[in-house]
Amino acid sequence: MSMDILGKLSQIENQKNILKEKFFLNYNPFPKSGIAIINESDDIVSSLSPVNDEVVNTIFEYIKDALYNSATNGKDLDNKYISLIVRGEYGSGKTQTLMYIKYLLQNLKLDNIRPYVIYIDNPGQKLSELIGGIISQIGIENFRKYLWNIFISYLDNNIDAKQEILKEATGRPIENTFFSEQETSSLLLIEKIQNYKELIDSITIRRSATEKKSFIQLLKDHMIRCFIEESESAVVASYFYDIVSETIGISKSWDMLVTGNVKELDKREVNILKAIVGIVQKQLGYTDFIILIDEFEEITAERLKKSDVDNYLRNLRLLIDREKNWCSVFAMTGKALSIIESYSPPLAGRIKGSFVDLKPLNEAELKKMIANYLSIARSESIDDDIYPFDESGIKEMLEVKDVQLKGSPRFILKLCYTLLQRAVDELPENGRINQTFVKQYMKVY
Ligand SMILES: Nc1ncnc2c1ncn2[C@@H]1O[C@H](COP(=O)(O)OP(=O)(O)O)[C@@H](O)[C@H]1O
Ligand SMILES: [Mg+2]
Repeated sequence: MSMDILGKLSQIENQKNILKEKFFLNYNPFPKSGIAIINESDDIVSSLSPVNDEVVNTIFEYIKDALYNSATNGKDLDNKYISLIVRGEYGSGKTQTLMYIKYLLQNLKLDNIRPYVIYIDNPGQKLSELIGGIISQIGIENFRKYLWNIFISYLDNNIDAKQEILKEATGRPIENTFFSEQETSSLLLIEKIQNYKELIDSITIRRSATEKKSFIQLLKDHMIRCFIEESESAVVASYFYDIVSETIGISKSWDMLVTGNVKELDKREVNILKAIVGIVQKQLGYTDFIILIDEFEEITAERLKKSDVDNYLRNLRLLIDREKNWCSVFAMTGKALSIIESYSPPLAGRIKGSFVDLKPLNEAELKKMIANYLSIARSESIDDDIYPFDESGIKEMLEVKDVQLKGSPRFILKLCYTLLQRAVDELPENGRINQTFVKQYMKVY
């Protein structure tokens, strides 16, 4: 018996050939686990577009409205906030829909509009964790570079500060530095320096420890002043200073910021977000800032204390009220939204902009979805775009006893994966994945 199984297993390699020869498929394209892949390529994400026309339309309208101000050079540049909620049960396609929105925003080809999109897979347990997630997506090296550029622009606009620093830097004879006597007269050299460490190194070489210390203090004072201008918060400014000045790869302040574990930063979320939006827009030339937040129902999951939920939602409302230079898309279950409405009607009022409702698939939508998957695994399109499935088989997939599973993309696509695997071995010549074939595998549900 065991020999028999081994013999059969050795044919696994053959499966690929059969998929190709029998079904014209390069591989089995259905998601084995039924979970949307977050870093899927643009090609695939664009092929797996929403199959419901109303969903497509709502997404289109939302993006148009979100970018309207930049598109028209509107006066209300600081009052852009609008919100979209993607609502659906587990496995209904919320994450996939967020991926599609991200794809659209990142692939817009427009001269005057460049949206910066951030996808957050989990809102965290505190608002500071959500903000931390946003910072972490930017990356420490980028963030450090942008902060440094901001400081350089600050010096450009504050000639006194710049002169003070240059005077300190060139007051004593120094060799082999960026600040030789003639060069400093131009006052432009700081721009050539790429980061904090380079500046400190070039200035403090061959200086006494005391001189070095006093220069570092002078620089710190100016940097803090600069970052306070940027964030309107001394606490945030001192974190930014730490990030720029802690030049060894990892930074303690950075870790604390991205994990949202800084007590003094509680209630400063708005200052951080404001600074981030500013950095991304000024330093990178983006016109819009859009945050996609997945699994927002986690906030309402029972493991959070009521007071923590209250806090989170109140802070989020304050954030939305005080900083309107961004847009958001929240994905959550319907139940979670009802809970949020009961906890915080004012917040619900602010995030209930438009809705994408992901309802169970009907037959036409399922057919389209299956055809979309098959198309990504075909080298050439064929007339019968659901082959080797047929309509009776597709219809049967919707006939499930468990109401939770009826028309659920996660359930059906996992099933399609299995059906196609089995069809390789079991489908007779010219056979189709039809009602009878599907029925066999649906028995357990
Ligand atoms: N429009 C779509 N086209 C193709 N596949 C989809 C579509 N919507 C959802 N899916 C797939 O269905 C499965 C469940 O979707 P997912 O986004 O993970 O659900 P949720 O986030 O709501 O739990 C995933 O494998 C996903 O790729
Ligand atoms: Mg999901």
